[in-house]
Amino acid sequence: MQTARVSNVFYAPGEERAAKVNDLFASIARRYDLLNDLQSFGLHRIWKRRVVELAKVKSGDLALDLCCGTGDLALALARQGAETIGLDFSEKMLEVAELRRQKIPNLTLEIRNLKFIKGDAQQLPFPENSFDIVTVGYGLRNLTSWEKGLEEMLRVAKPDARLIVLEFGKPENLIWRKIYFTHLKCSVPLIGLLFCGNPQAYAYILESLKHYPAQLAVAEKMRGLKLANVRVINLLGGAMAINYGEKPK
Ligand SMILES: C[S@@+](CC[C@H](N)C(=O)[O-])C[C@H]1O[C@@H](n2cnc3c(N)ncnc32)[C@H](O)[C@@H]1O
Repeated sequence: MQTARVSNVFYAPGEERAAKVNDLFASIARRYDLLNDLQSFGLHRIWKRRVVELAKVKSGDLALDLCCGTGDLALALARQGAETIGLDFSEKMLEVAELRRQKIPNLTLEIRNLKFIKGDAQQLPFPENSFDIVTVGYGLRNLTSWEKGLEEMLRVAKPDARLIVLEFGKPENLIWRKIYFTHLKCSVPLIGLLFCGNPQAYAYILESLKHYPAQLAVAEKMRGLKLANVRVINLLGGAMAINYGEKPK
């Protein structure tokens, strides 16, 4: 049930949601990586490494990273040896990702083969049973329907594939939750203002999180979809979370 009041120019419920989210990421694409480091104190790099470890990349694996943005996870999966596709609906974010790929010295075969493509995570342009690994980093919360996003992840995953979601979480400890939400409400928009001239884009994180049921509901949905070995890995006391599951054989 969605009860939170909407108070952000980039958050719109329903039909308008995707267009607003697209505007948001177009407006911050050039500064996205810097701001990610600043607002998470660089910790997102460690959390993304955890995602890649969980993906257990084997040579020849096919990986899909949804809502790939500027390409952190897709590049990391490709570096591990997976033949990887990063998909996002924001052309501006994809441009940054592609520039990053091209700037990598001594391109390995996997980095050369890494493709960034434009598409909607809720309507994937792939047949079922296509990928050994499907990841999404800080993307599910932005979808009009996060449930549809998960269903699509499952559809395109091969039997035994790893499905991994990294996302902002909701700490169960109410004092910690209050401190963390205050950080998202005050410091993060201030960082957005100072380094990007765009406080609203960063205030959107808290607004979207209020409308997103977070790690426990994602785990419940994964179980409902009959994924195996469903796990929630709480990071920073649940302020971030990784949801993990495997497509049944
Ligand atoms: C917060 S960024 C995350 C980027 C990257 N995965 C990371 O971890 O840094 C969210 C990304 O989701 C993308 N996105 C949002 N809704 C989408 C959709 N329906 N289909 C594809 N991409 C979407 C945005 O364009 C944006 O690049």
